[in-house]
Amino acid sequence: MADSTAPARFTRRTFLGWWMAGLLTATVVVGLAPILVYLWPAPPKGQKKLPVTVALDKPLDQLANGEAVKFDAPTSPNTAFIMANGGGDNAPGALAFGGFAVKDTNGKPHVFAINCSHLGCPIAVNTTDSTFDCPCHGSRFHLDGTVLHGPATAPLSDLSWKQGSDPKTIVVDGLELGF
Ligand code: FES
Repeated sequence: MADSTAPARFTRRTFLGWWMAGLLTATVVVGLAPILVYLWPAPPKGQKKLPVTVALDKPLDQLANGEAVKFDAPTSPNTAFIMANGGGDNAPGALAFGGFAVKDTNGKPHVFAINCSHLGCPIAVNTTDSTFDCPCHGSRFHLDGTVLHGPATAPLSDLSWKQGSDPKTIVVDGLELGF
């Protein structure tokens, strides 16, 4: 009968088990790290994410249905907005240096990056037709950001935002550029 009070022996099998487990863990960490860095890249040196307060020409809640106001990223310090989503030439995490706050024709507020989803030209609001038009290749968008006319095939990119403490301001997810 075995002596249950005897200390457990550290066998070759135990050693190999621990060695394999360590090797497997190191392999997973080394393999996973580049993927994680690719998916969630750190901002380049000198840049930091921050909420950017933007003063609108007219408070969002006072916009009429179908009305839009343009705004630019503040330049002191130099900032950019971060796209929340996007397709075509736009993408989540891509930068925008301007945007539009808009109430669509149903009265729903949106805040869009200024970049056309075709090749990134700045869109302009067409007050006659209540659309966003791109001067570069003729794409047109409804005021809810959906495509009205190509060549763009993807909707406009949203910016993540919330109402500022002053009704004339909105606070948009952005980046301080560090230059
Ligand atoms: S960049 Fe807007 S239509 Fe081409």
